[in-house]
Amino acid sequence: MSDRDAGGRGDATGEEAGEPAADNPPVRRVSDWDAERLRGLAGEHETPLYVQDLDRVRENCERLLAAFPDADVRYAVKAHTGRAVLEAVRDAGLDAECASAGEVDRALAAGFDGSRLHYTAVNPPARDLDYVAGVAEAEPELTVTVGAVDALDRLAERGYDGRVCVRVNPGVGAGHHKKVTTGGAAKFGIPYDRAAEATRDAAGRFDVVGLHAHAGSGIDPDQLDSHRELVARMGELARDLSEPSDRDGDDPRDADPIDLEYVDVGGGFGVPYEEDAPALDLPAVAEATREAVAPLPAGVDLAIEPGRYVVADAGVLLTRVNTVKPTPDETVVGVDAGMTDLLRPAMYDAYHPIRNLGGASGEPPVAEREATPVTVAGPICETGDTLGRNRALADPSRGDLLAVGVAGAYGYEMASQYNSRPRPAEVALDDGRAAVTRRRETLGDLTTVEREADRDRTDRPEGDR
Ligand SMILES: Cc1ncc(COP(=O)(O)O)c(C=O)c1O
Repeated sequence: MSDRDAGGRGDATGEEAGEPAADNPPVRRVSDWDAERLRGLAGEHETPLYVQDLDRVRENCERLLAAFPDADVRYAVKAHTGRAVLEAVRDAGLDAECASAGEVDRALAAGFDGSRLHYTAVNPPARDLDYVAGVAEAEPELTVTVGAVDALDRLAERGYDGRVCVRVNPGVGAGHHKKVTTGGAAKFGIPYDRAAEATRDAAGRFDVVGLHAHAGSGIDPDQLDSHRELVARMGELARDLSEPSDRDGDDPRDADPIDLEYVDVGGGFGVPYEEDAPALDLPAVAEATREAVAPLPAGVDLAIEPGRYVVADAGVLLTRVNTVKPTPDETVVGVDAGMTDLLRPAMYDAYHPIRNLGGASGEPPVAEREATPVTVAGPICETGDTLGRNRALADPSRGDLLAVGVAGAYGYEMASQYNSRPRPAEVALDDGRAAVTRRRETLGDLTTVEREADRDRTDRPEGDR
């Protein structure tokens, strides 16, 4: 259940259906950020530094709620799990869709109660199931989304008989890269042609409340057909399940209809990473979704669960130029952020816009510099560690500050300590005020778990070590 009744969403939007506020543009480009402010933040908190603007997170929530006024809107927490972001999303009235016990734990800590928590179990580790089954005892309104029949067995073994949503593999996918195209991948969901049967079986053991499918991440305007097809299939399945069925093939019909609450057609709403790419026409996507799913059986709501759309353009990664190396092939601009801070370019060949904010001492303002094609490379000892190739930047110099745009989704979340690099700091902007929400890791943080293990070992009697 979404927070519609709790007063979050209506108050948050204050808009008519499909009409976000005029001062709430469909995208915030890296060129829209206040350069002076970003230079100030980098000066105060050093680099690499993520800046996440909670006001923009709220705007994105508002546009989603305005475009999908009758749907349950859930935030896919994996895109950015920071506490301040979760609280902003919660206050805006979205539910939380969580991919792990850790995400459920964070969502609970941020104030989502069970009725607003959806745990999507993908090949769930035993430890995660134990944890979630335990949470469900205190929060019986929590819903577990399950994509394999034996995962249902594993839930039942833990005494869980609560709310279940069946994840379906719709056989159709979409996404910005094959690694994030989930809809047709065997790993995700119960195959479409077995889903009705599996759902009816599950209804004998659990309170089956929903159907779920997710096409993939980064659906752009020209992939709308796949989205429409997925949604249409899910609508059809919901209609089928809302009828009594003839399970033994010997009419009269011998199985009750399933009393579904919702059909969740996933997230994946794309954002324009390239500076000149058009923004997704969200009202048009909403209209296409409603058309494709209709008519849903009475009492069954549409649900969506975007992650990227909520947080991507609310974040930038700031990084300082530390070397400039002209070579016969290209000019390499070395910066202090790399694939350990922002993995998407190395992992998916993802494009992030980069803007030179200047600041190198003795250099002219960037507006007076010539655009120069450069490769922006990080400090990690990997060839793939580049943030962008062949980018025309205002001629960069050592000491300049670069802003890597649209970095708020799957940015900090995928950061690692590879090459023994401490993870960056993060600052959140809230109504213009800045606060550190994730401190910069130190070299000491890199060895904390080793030192704790050493301590545990030496604390044990000698024979037990
Ligand atoms: C099940 C599920 N729902 C929602 C999402 C969110 O996708 P996006 O951030 O592209 O909206 C994902 C992303 O991986 C997902 O796996």
